[in-house]
Amino acid sequence: MYLPEIDFLNLNNLPEILRINANSGCSWSEDIIREDLKKNSQNEITYIGAFATSTEASLLGYAVLGREKRFGLLMALAVDKNFRRIGIGTQLLMAVSDCATYLNMKRLKLKVRKSNSGAIALYKHFSFMNENIRQGYYSNGEDAIIMGAALPLKVI
Ligand SMILES: CC(C)(COP(=O)(O)OP(=O)(O)OC[C@H]1O[C@@H](n2cnc3c(N)ncnc32)[C@H](O)[C@@H]1OP(=O)(O)O)[C@@H](O)C(=O)NCCC(=O)NCCS
Repeated sequence: MYLPEIDFLNLNNLPEILRINANSGCSWSEDIIREDLKKNSQNEITYIGAFATSTEASLLGYAVLGREKRFGLLMALAVDKNFRRIGIGTQLLMAVSDCATYLNMKRLKLKVRKSNSGAIALYKHFSFMNENIRQGYYSNGEDAIIMGAALPLKVI
């Protein structure tokens, strides 16, 4: 297990977010991410990063928390492919849970590709349950599974 530093992200982190997206299958455009980061309103959309504790402080992974009324939405979660399976995704989810609870959200929802067994295994550790299926949701026609869990998240 690796203990990263967890902090909010801002516009300065954009290049590193794009670097992680390039090897994580995340297709958000640079413009969308830039606009989100410019808003810098942690009530609406919150970018949370996990940083290496070495001097260069490079970004190892990040998560994006959005809001839909009393629900939180986990809009993105990605870890640098060279740093997976050492607990960084877990720690980012714990930070998302803390933020969402602080913002008075009662439940966290997400969408995940049906084929993404690694991410689904991670979410099940955090008590997420399948709530629905959105057929053909992704551009290649793949179904999305909608999962939800009560906040604060509990590790099973
Ligand atoms: C999914 C993702 C964020 C997981 O991050 P991570 O830092 O590797 O996750 P962790 O190390 O905290 O994993 C915790 C547990 O989740 C499960 N898990 C995580 N990745 C897994 C995988 N690829 N296969 C099977 N189980 C996995 C395991 O039980 C793991 O515990 P273990 O390593 O002791 O067996 C990472 O693989 C990733 O960035 N993938 C590409 C982007 C993506 O698919 N994001 C999710 C979109 S909804």
